[in-house]
Amino acid sequence: MSGKTETFELRDGASGRSSQLPVRTGTIGPAALDIAGLHKDLDVFTYDPGFGATAATESRITYIDGDAGVLLYRGYPIEQLAEKSSFMEVAYLLLLGELPTSRQLEEFTGNIRYHTMLNETLLRFFNGFHHNAHPMAMVSAVVASMSAFYHDTMDIHNPRHREIFSHRIIAKLPTIAAAAHKHSLGQPFIYPRNELDYAANLLHMLFAVPCEAYKLDPIASEALDLLFILHADHEQNASTSTVRLAGSTGANPYAAISAGVSALWGPAHGGANEAVLAMLEQIGSVDHIPKHLAMAKDKSGHFRLMGFGHRVYKNFDPRAQIIRAMCHKVLARLGRADNPLFELALRLEEIALKDEYFVSRKLYPNVDFYSGVIYSAIGIPRSMFTVMFAVARTVGWVAHWQEMISDPGMRIGRPRQLYTGATRREYLEIARRG
Ligand code: ACO
Repeated sequence: MSGKTETFELRDGASGRSSQLPVRTGTIGPAALDIAGLHKDLDVFTYDPGFGATAATESRITYIDGDAGVLLYRGYPIEQLAEKSSFMEVAYLLLLGELPTSRQLEEFTGNIRYHTMLNETLLRFFNGFHHNAHPMAMVSAVVASMSAFYHDTMDIHNPRHREIFSHRIIAKLPTIAAAAHKHSLGQPFIYPRNELDYAANLLHMLFAVPCEAYKLDPIASEALDLLFILHADHEQNASTSTVRLAGSTGANPYAAISAGVSALWGPAHGGANEAVLAMLEQIGSVDHIPKHLAMAKDKSGHFRLMGFGHRVYKNFDPRAQIIRAMCHKVLARLGRADNPLFELALRLEEIALKDEYFVSRKLYPNVDFYSGVIYSAIGIPRSMFTVMFAVARTVGWVAHWQEMISDPGMRIGRPRQLYTGATRREYLEIARRG
């Protein structure tokens, strides 16, 4: 629970009425004005489209300082976790608040492994999709459909049910993701191999075929594990807020996570990784960069420099820096150091970061500017990029959903509005209109 240090008085000059707004302080970061009494005291709402200055909740999970480029999971810097940890350890940390002991980690990964298979009936859902369905459409539908299978463990007020749900969803997301990919290819589904770690198992399910052995490339699973760590959580971003809002109604958690998958899909959010590669291919060569930068600056069009800019990071995105370094490593180890799209991305970054438009608006490469280069290098098709993001972010969504549901003060999320439509008018019979 946050502390309340002082109050901030807001006075309405016209009526003379005032409201005492408590100032809530967290452990780090800006304090927040508690405006809950404002409407009652002064009969006004606050207006903050896009929630640029609104703290919708207290949270203990992730902290971001956008000016300093700081990202902490449960207090631990992302750079340290990226270097020393694993995705499963980070998942434990985000869900349970502390780094696990060896025994705790073994037990946790055992619980995840136990749930990797999909019910065969659920697997058949994929056959209802056309072969060219976008994998995100299949993933959101199949995740929502999971609620039809686990009636026995869906009491959101039962901590053990919530725990089983969290193991199930984290375990099954890679299987669902891989099944969506296999369906697009017309290849048979590949069952999980539980002796593999989380990222390696996903690569196995994506790329193995029944007629020949699949040789896992350790650099591919190392890179994927790193990308999963970096994408695992990002405090109250659009998809996480969607999960919280949907979950705040008491909807079952599979429905809430499916809502998060849908929100992630948009190109302003998780869909950016797919859009970046499309953009790089569209640009094609260094000579065409100036033309595309001009398009990105032109307010009369819709073209934006995908993978650039962030609502919170206004200096650099620490995740982008880690991924850029990993790009070099992956491409060198795969013998593709002269990858033309990566070269183009590096040049685009260099040119944009010297351009007054991007400098003055503090637009820097975000987490998704380089992630697609790595996914492509390890053979993951572009349509699957956002699905990869969803696999990783499921951990963050679950951690936030758990935090919200276990808060005794939880209320349904229900924003208000500034109404600008027609004032009251009388219904006109159709014969008398026009
Ligand atoms: N290319 C060109 N101009 C941009 C870009 C961009 N990528 N991003 C922001 N701007 C401009 C805006 O036009 C605006 O200019 P103005 O002040 O002249 O009107 C200014 O920068 C501020 O931009 P906003 O849209 O107000 O910033 P907001 O915080 O609302 O949006 C967002 C952030 C959605 C990430 C935006 O930068 C964007 O669309 N980026 C491209 C998509 C992308 O990479 N998304 C992934 C984000 S990371 C993630 O979700 C995992």
